[in-house]
Amino acid sequence: MKVLVTGGSGFIASHVIDHLKAAGHEPVNFDIRPSQWQGEEVPFFEGSITDVDALENAMAGCDAVAHLAAAADVGEVQKDPLWAEELNARGSICVLEAAKRAGVKRVVYASTIWVYQDNKELEINEDVNPALPSHLYTAGKLAGEAYCTSYKALFDLDYTILRFGIPYGPRAREATVLALFCGKILNGEPITLAGGGTQTRRFVYVEDIADAVVRSLAPEGANRIYNLVGTEETSILQVAEKAQELLGDGEVVVTEGRAGDFAGAVISGQRAEDELGWTAATDFAEGARRYVEWRKAQA
Ligand SMILES: NC(=O)c1ccc[n+]([C@@H]2O[C@H](COP(=O)([O-])OP(=O)(O)OC[C@H]3O[C@@H](n4cnc5c(N)ncnc54)[C@H](O)[C@@H]3O)[C@@H](O)[C@H]2O)c1
Repeated sequence: MKVLVTGGSGFIASHVIDHLKAAGHEPVNFDIRPSQWQGEEVPFFEGSITDVDALENAMAGCDAVAHLAAAADVGEVQKDPLWAEELNARGSICVLEAAKRAGVKRVVYASTIWVYQDNKELEINEDVNPALPSHLYTAGKLAGEAYCTSYKALFDLDYTILRFGIPYGPRAREATVLALFCGKILNGEPITLAGGGTQTRRFVYVEDIADAVVRSLAPEGANRIYNLVGTEETSILQVAEKAQELLGDGEVVVTEGRAGDFAGAVISGQRAEDELGWTAATDFAEGARRYVEWRKAQA
């Protein structure tokens, strides 16, 4: 299958490109900047997802689109809401419109489990509708989801919505938690955890996410929504301790502060297992080890 990957130079999408190649597909990268992770063997179109003509041109002959380009840093979204809206909402409808015009069969859309952030349920699967959002990041990502289902209803363009858990692993941006803690240790700075770092997260190793994106291209994935979550809850303190253990150094300072935030609902990834045969195969200890290995090799 020929698959256009938007944001293919980014953290998660660069792994999607690797996994598409490994599975025998033909990935094409569409991004505003070239990739530092792939060579010339992956065709590259430099352009913005707000440019429908450029997208349509890049989609020529493609069977599917994996749409991952976005304003993915929640802090940046809060700082510049209009820029984020242009990418996350407008950019997503542009991708769908270009796919419709280019005769692409399916758009796989990268969403996030943060869309459930305002839900009150304690257990959540994909049949639970996300509550109206309190963050502009989730508002933008939900707009993209809504455009996917609307393009299906009005123009019969198939979609797959993937709600990613918290990704980590090689090529992660420095702002992500494991990367940040490793950076502090390597700079000789202490890791400070307000309130003990007891809050937990459902991390997912980035290559497992990439594997799910490839699997979701199967016929079963058409017009379905999947939560892609790991099976373990990992506390921020455990992340700090793992970084310490793997780098053999560093100081963790636990300060008084607000108690750990509400761990949130338990989000089920059962549907992805049942329908796509996907589970998050890499546990946090192994994924963190691979991240640190990669990081050392970059130094
Ligand atoms: N990182 C997370 O914590 C997380 C969690 C859940 C879901 N997601 C989603 O996964 C996707 C990928 O996230 P990431 O963390 O790999 O992000 P990233 O910032 O590493 O990658 C985004 C890519 O999009 C490109 N891009 C930015 N503006 C563009 C434009 N106008 N046109 C074309 N390309 C543009 C960037 O150059 C970059 O290569 C996003 O859709 C994000 O919302 C991320």
